[in-house]
Amino acid sequence: MAKQREQWGSKLGFILAAAGSAIGLGNIWRFPTVVGQSGGGIFILIYLIIIFLIGIPLMICELTIGRKGKSNIVRAFKGIKPGSPWWIIGALGVAAGFIILSFYSVIAGWSVAYIFKFLSGGLNNLDVRDSREIFVNFVASPVEPLIWHGIFMAMTIGIVIFGIDKGIEKASKIMMPVLFVLLLLLALRSITLPGALEGLRWYLTPNLQAINIKIILGALGQVFFSLSLGMGAIMTYGSYLTDDNDIPNSAMFISLADLSIAILAGFIIIPAVFAFGFEPNAGPSLIFITLPAVFASLPLGNLFGGLFFILLTIAALTSAISLLEVPVAYFIEEFKWSRKQASIILGIIIFLLGIPSSLSMGILGETLFFGRGFLDFMDFFSSNLILPIGGLLTAVFVGWVWGAQGIFNELEKARVTFRAKNIWFSIVKYLLPVVLFYILITGLI
Ligand code: PHE
Repeated sequence: MAKQREQWGSKLGFILAAAGSAIGLGNIWRFPTVVGQSGGGIFILIYLIIIFLIGIPLMICELTIGRKGKSNIVRAFKGIKPGSPWWIIGALGVAAGFIILSFYSVIAGWSVAYIFKFLSGGLNNLDVRDSREIFVNFVASPVEPLIWHGIFMAMTIGIVIFGIDKGIEKASKIMMPVLFVLLLLLALRSITLPGALEGLRWYLTPNLQAINIKIILGALGQVFFSLSLGMGAIMTYGSYLTDDNDIPNSAMFISLADLSIAILAGFIIIPAVFAFGFEPNAGPSLIFITLPAVFASLPLGNLFGGLFFILLTIAALTSAISLLEVPVAYFIEEFKWSRKQASIILGIIIFLLGIPSSLSMGILGETLFFGRGFLDFMDFFSSNLILPIGGLLTAVFVGWVWGAQGIFNELEKARVTFRAKNIWFSIVKYLLPVVLFYILITGLI
């Protein structure tokens, strides 16, 4: 007899794990970075529109496909539409898991390193200039960041080996609430820094004239990245759902939780950037440079700094495990690997794939891919291209291939009334394919 497939231990456990997948470096590192590069308030406005119009409807699709399939994402598509090529969406997702986790783990490794740098006093009372110098030297060194990247991957593998309810669920339950409280405290500190007000204004007032397709594509990529959409992470978590889960409700909660953490992170970083007379478009190094200076302005700054990076690391871990779980679930079910074997082998491959991203901050810095350093290229390529394409194909699949009756049957297993279901389905069927196609084509040209 086949071994029974794993399921979430409880409804809360699922919600926290899925929110844990969504909330991570995307919110705290990537969101302020992209806001900074995209003109502040106008970005926030577009971001909000895209979350509600595209993000949440797609999350409902992914969770429902996942639960219907009760399998890895490739098999899920094969199960719903046997004999068709739609399983390619799943294959694309497995590949995206490798790509995204490879650079994600490099940045998460910086976060691990910063825990120790803070707690050992190495980042004590810095001004922004010292802090920039320390960061730049650290990421440019060829070996040290790779060690931290390896440590982070090892932790990710460790949690994925223990499986769904023992590993992933437990880790999420404890840490998410603590993170929220610390972020709140930091935001308060940051907006009360002298000179922070200008930053606040920049963050919150949309300059409608500044709108352009680059900002829209950037916001789209950020929504996909932050909500873990377009590559089957949320779908895979959906596959461990029990039939009584109210999927639309869950999707709403997960997305709003993710949104609030991102906005909160913006309230920490952006005012601080202005207060320190720094440029908001500094790119991926932004938080690692500004935050130490914020902590220096706090009593017991070292301790807070250490704690912050512990929590950031954990938030990154709960996302990384969802990235690794996509290929792991696939290799377990399709190639009959054990969970342990799949986690370790795939984890090592991803570690190796991350090496050029790490080196691109230093010795490979001059080597450009389409005008970008390797890490930057991997990030742009996956968030702004692969994930939206995955989302586009998923919407077409649900709207035109699976069809209303099929997906409603699965959605309504939970015996909940989904009041907006017809509006939702029309959005998925007509609006999403058109809008996503349009943004992708014009944005990329
Ligand atoms: N959403 C995660 C974050 O914001 C990253 C992620 C992307 C996780 C895609 C899974 C899939 O950090």
